[in-house]
Amino acid sequence: MTEPVGLAKGLTNYGDPDFALYLRRSFARSMGYSSDMLACPVIGIADTYSGYNNCHRHFPELIEAVKRGVLAMGGLPLTFPTISLGEVFLNPTSLMFRNLMAIDTEEMIRAQPMDAVVLVGGCDKTVPAQLMGAISANRPAIQLVAGPMMTARWHGERLGACTDCRRFWARYRAGEIEPKEIREIEGNLATTAGTCAVMGTASTMASVAEALGMILPGTAAIPAVHADRLRAGEATGRAAMQLARSGLTPDRIITADAVENALRVLMAIGGSTNAVLHLTAIAGRAGIDIDLRHLNEISDSTPVLVDLKPTGPHYMEDLFAAGGVGAVLRELRPLLHLDCLTVTGETLSQRLSAPAGPVDRSVVKPLADPLQPAGGLVALFGSLAPGGAIFKRSAADPKLFEKDGRAVVFASLEDLSARIDDPDLDVTPDDFLVLQNAGPVSASGMPEAGYLPIPAKLARAGVKDMVRISDARMSGTAYGSIVLHVTPDAASGGPLARVRNGDRIRLSVKERRIDLLVPPEELARRPVAAPPIPERGYARLYRNEILQADRGCDFNFLRKHPLTVPQS
Ligand code: FES
Repeated sequence: MTEPVGLAKGLTNYGDPDFALYLRRSFARSMGYSSDMLACPVIGIADTYSGYNNCHRHFPELIEAVKRGVLAMGGLPLTFPTISLGEVFLNPTSLMFRNLMAIDTEEMIRAQPMDAVVLVGGCDKTVPAQLMGAISANRPAIQLVAGPMMTARWHGERLGACTDCRRFWARYRAGEIEPKEIREIEGNLATTAGTCAVMGTASTMASVAEALGMILPGTAAIPAVHADRLRAGEATGRAAMQLARSGLTPDRIITADAVENALRVLMAIGGSTNAVLHLTAIAGRAGIDIDLRHLNEISDSTPVLVDLKPTGPHYMEDLFAAGGVGAVLRELRPLLHLDCLTVTGETLSQRLSAPAGPVDRSVVKPLADPLQPAGGLVALFGSLAPGGAIFKRSAADPKLFEKDGRAVVFASLEDLSARIDDPDLDVTPDDFLVLQNAGPVSASGMPEAGYLPIPAKLARAGVKDMVRISDARMSGTAYGSIVLHVTPDAASGGPLARVRNGDRIRLSVKERRIDLLVPPEELARRPVAAPPIPERGYARLYRNEILQADRGCDFNFLRKHPLTVPQS
């Protein structure tokens, strides 16, 4: 028996399949489709346009381009909405809803008739959520990303969200910028459709998606408003039809080798710390575990090649003009698994053998003459973080890499905002700022709060960086000597919960260590309080199922191989 195609797939259950198909066609015809169109293969298009998502505001036009590609290849494009996660519009934080979006995406791919799906996303959590859902559904799938914003100008200076947001806000806090000026800057930081203009989480995940082979070659860095972005949309529609015919599923693309390639690219682009979480969660859906010690091996053997903000001077539009992610992949070629399949059906080796354009070496450095000899991210382990923590060495001050300091502890985000600028706060530039209860199990849902502000009195005195430690995340657009994702987190009773003001903490990036210099018997005497379990709704599901950062903060029951001993 031949496999049903298009609308004949996955019939609604009435106990009479012929009736179900007849009824489905009848209702589909009410939308004005001809019988011929309804007999075509169906390409589902997951649409994440939302009035709450500025980064996706061009999706109506982009999705028209995808549909054009599908129609040109003889398919029927059908859009469907899923949750959209606009990074700055969600409370308490977008990460909390990534898994909800992944569930939505997975279930709608599985429940609705489609021969392949185009996942149109971009803003930080949307791409990982769509990839997680698509892997679990395991229908032929291709991702299309929003593309980055273009930069704007203020007093002749280029501005791009969101490294410059933070840079100017830090100057405003230090009293270097007037209120009138910060309002002008606010109006010029994000001026076009698309995702943040630097190598933040969205740009990192777009690059990771290209390295995994899940988007069309050369499309990660095309600016959102460039005509090439629409051409990429059309080409993605065409490619989805090829996928529908070949039946190539994500499990054949997202393999252990492909995940390792993605980690290499993450290091070479100086990518966001958030990508470690997301890639871990994506891999977990495919039954692949990322060991943070292996991440260190990859980091130590992969140089940083891309000179973008927050670590360098350039923006994503410059990476596009410089040759895009393809230029990075070609440099990394000796380090990559070249037999990995991409969504086109080609191997990475075939892709990289195609003729390439010129490369701007001010943006993408050669492997033989890299920007930095080793990757931007490292995992730290030690008595403060037995399950690991993440440190972005490429965005930090090396003078702070080997150091011990006195802990100045904030018990929660509320405590932080209440006291950080208190003129009486007992703090010096040599102290370590510690934030507790901002991890995955906390009620705050692991926000991007790891970039603790420099206390106002120190900022005004010219202090630019301090060691900051938390179980929170950090925006990919931020920078500083910041230890993140401390695992286990404080809310699940990890050692971080037992740190008190005045404790000594030792950081050694060289040794990959973060240690709390307090005897275990003293720590055991210190009480810790677990947060209450929410009574209902998604918050309850989240609290009951959320895994720690070293498992990508996925829900245990959504992993291909759930942990038999849940972490929290
Ligand atoms: Fe959407 Fe930065 S706010 S990518």
